[in-house]
Amino acid sequence: MTLWTFMTSNRGKIKVLTIKDKKKVPVIVGELILRKTKAGSRPHKFRISNSDKKNEHLAPESFIEMLKKSDRILISTDCDGDTSSRINEMLTGFQLTSEPVNVCRLCLLQDKFNFVGKKSYRFHDEYICWDCAKDELYRYFRNSGFSWGEQTISYLEDLLCKSKDLDRTIGFLNPTELDKEFTHYDTITSESRISELRFNHLPLDKSLRNLLSKKADKLLPVQTLAVEQGLFDGINLLVTSVTATGKTLVGEMVGVNNILKKRGKMLFLVPLVALANQKYYDFSTKYSKIGLKTSIRVGSNRIKSSKNLKMKTNLDSDIVVATYEGIDYILRSGNSDSLGNIGTVVIDEVHTIEDKERGHRLDGLIARLKYITSNTQFIYLSATVANPDHLAKKLNASIVNYEHRPVPIERHLIYCEDHRKNKLMAKLVQEEYKQKSSKGHFGQTIIFTNSRKNCQHISKSLPISSSAYHAGMLQHERNRIEQRFKTGKLPVVVTTAALAAGVDFPASQVIFESLAMGIEWLSIQEFMQMLGRAGRPDYHDRGRIVILATPDKKYTANQEGTEDEIAISLLKGKLESLAVDYSEDDMMEEILASAAVTNSKRDLQSIHNSMVASYQINIYLKTLAKTGFLAQRGNSINLSKLGKIAAKHFLTTSKAILIKEGVVSNTEPMDIITSLELFDSAYFKSAAQISKSLNINLSSRVFQGSSLDILFDGETLSKLNPTLQDRLLNFATEFLTCGCKGSPFCGCPERKFSFKLLGLRGEGLSPEAIIDILEDTYGVTAYTGDILDYLEKAVRNLDAVLMMAQAYSKSDVYQKSITLRKKLEG
Ligand SMILES: Nc1ncnc2c1ncn2[C@@H]1O[C@H](COP(=O)(O)OP(=O)(O)OP(=O)(O)O)[C@@H](O)[C@H]1O
Ligand SMILES: [Mg+2]
Ligand SMILES: [Zn+2]
Ligand SMILES: [Zn+2]
Repeated sequence: MTLWTFMTSNRGKIKVLTIKDKKKVPVIVGELILRKTKAGSRPHKFRISNSDKKNEHLAPESFIEMLKKSDRILISTDCDGDTSSRINEMLTGFQLTSEPVNVCRLCLLQDKFNFVGKKSYRFHDEYICWDCAKDELYRYFRNSGFSWGEQTISYLEDLLCKSKDLDRTIGFLNPTELDKEFTHYDTITSESRISELRFNHLPLDKSLRNLLSKKADKLLPVQTLAVEQGLFDGINLLVTSVTATGKTLVGEMVGVNNILKKRGKMLFLVPLVALANQKYYDFSTKYSKIGLKTSIRVGSNRIKSSKNLKMKTNLDSDIVVATYEGIDYILRSGNSDSLGNIGTVVIDEVHTIEDKERGHRLDGLIARLKYITSNTQFIYLSATVANPDHLAKKLNASIVNYEHRPVPIERHLIYCEDHRKNKLMAKLVQEEYKQKSSKGHFGQTIIFTNSRKNCQHISKSLPISSSAYHAGMLQHERNRIEQRFKTGKLPVVVTTAALAAGVDFPASQVIFESLAMGIEWLSIQEFMQMLGRAGRPDYHDRGRIVILATPDKKYTANQEGTEDEIAISLLKGKLESLAVDYSEDDMMEEILASAAVTNSKRDLQSIHNSMVASYQINIYLKTLAKTGFLAQRGNSINLSKLGKIAAKHFLTTSKAILIKEGVVSNTEPMDIITSLELFDSAYFKSAAQISKSLNINLSSRVFQGSSLDILFDGETLSKLNPTLQDRLLNFATEFLTCGCKGSPFCGCPERKFSFKLLGLRGEGLSPEAIIDILEDTYGVTAYTGDILDYLEKAVRNLDAVLMMAQAYSKSDVYQKSITLRKKLEG
């Protein structure tokens, strides 16, 4: 048994703790009263204050006895000078000595004993013990008014433990200043054990080698690995590595080399028009130097607008950059021969195959391309796939997987309330733009937020030049922003997760203003794509990502998880596994599309066997035959007129039937196309003001959530200013007058609105002019890009209507469609 006696002063009184076996809870707590004698201070009284023996006394002799038995006599360094000298005087009298010790003051307040030292926890101007520091942290959590998630709490405990500083830990929960050392979550290093090859050593055609060596002398690691895996031996490869590791060049190098070695042209396929434009521009400039022609194929670009750019689109070029859809359109129209001899197919961003809605189209397209080509090398590029082995096996490709980053990425996590975010972002972007990398570039930032509207708000709030950038903007506006960013003239772009993949923004810093896209949490794939935007080997020495997570935040009431928790999950991130599962409609759409490239049932089966999602086609073929999309005889399969139209126009069977029924019953073309596709990207122009003045939460999306219900509910309108009232009343009279039971969620408002929009276009108005009218008349606005996109879709659906009218000899519908199409195209 060890026995310690500890003494300290407590408001002029002497507090004594008797500690057995170094335990935190003392056996005796008491107050010692000294008396002055000629010989010096001596014990006079000892009052016990432990709760069970409260106010009992210990005889002074017994106290002296206890002191003498003590292994150590400890005096707190906090003990005031006068008291401590009186104690020591007494001890000297009994030939005893003491040692000064530092103890936790907060423990003492609860009659507990705990040493503290330099390794304890800083709290204001003292050190406290781990338990007290944790108690204080929890107290803060309880009083903050938020309910913090378990993961967050345990992350904060870790931080506290590492930093040994309670003030900073608590400060971190709602910072006004940036504490980078503290917000630092981890750094993904850029170590690589790969000794990179030089362009000189590659079996490249001479002109290509010269061209590439001018830009860089060494290959990046993933490129080296690809070469080692047989890139130049004609092997199909699935190349997966994080963003900005140089995957494009893997495809480019071999594709161009195959062209020069007369093995055939290169198709370079991407998911987005914006990305196609960018690659088209890059490749045309780069490879025209060695005499190669590049062209581009994207969705139709049918709506006339003065700003459409002039680009080469013929298929006999050496390099054809296209969207998946642009190439599939050729196959689905039965024109695959026009593609000529294909040496290489590069599928960029192949993880699109995991996309719930669009995945089947890419899956089918790849299968069809494999079928129509022979001796063609397929290169698949992807940043993140859930299960690369499975995908590679299905695609019949070897895997090249490189996990390291070209430059290290620092990852930072900051918790803060929404209203503080703008200020913090302002600081972050300004600081970053002051930093110059060893490669001579100033730090530029991409801010990701969850909605287009927020892009504008945030961009406006920043004290430094910045631009919003999103799919609702016109192509040429976006091009301008990309160029200004690339040349370093624009310090910041604010965008949404929708733009994460592919488009080339050489940013050194990526800020997550929100961890949602719309009202859904980001998936780990999206998150990885987005954070991969930070740090580029040819521009920067490091990348930095900063997550601004709002404690307790949810985007919808029944959403699972809160933003603080999601932040930790994403940072710890493991990929969810790939489950390719298509709906019947999707599968039948693919069968029709593939039946456009072959008449043989066996071949059709083998095309479908080579898809990532394999399924039996027999049962679907029967359904398709029964519903008149195709005819089966023995091994031969022939699309009917209906089937051909569906295949060519990317229609599901249900949409095709809708069109056919519409045409046959002489429905107005306008009615048919609005039943196929509705315009739902309308916004209330003054949603923010309305929300504020009525103290409600009105989403700006007109046709989403409960906006319509909230706004047009009896009294609400009357509280708004007269102009706004007028406009919203116009909106209600024109679009909300149906008598449906489910109104306003019956679909009628969207349909009427789409009608209006097409009607205005029909009067010859430009998208911009349409927006002006919508704003002035209804207080509703939209983005130019969304309107163009909708018109584009409408025109393409009209193409289908037209062909259907021809097929079923409905000359009246045919004529009307032609007229309408002309009007919409402008
Ligand atoms: N051998 C090289 N040496 C130096 N820089 C290179 C080399 N190869 C490519 N780069 C540069 O690396 C950058 C990133 O390349 P790239 O756009 O191909 O990335 P990625 O892997 O396709 O990323 P993402 O997943 O975002 O599409 C580009 O700016 C490119 O010019
Ligand atoms: Mg890429
Ligand atoms: Zn303590
Ligand atoms: Zn209705």
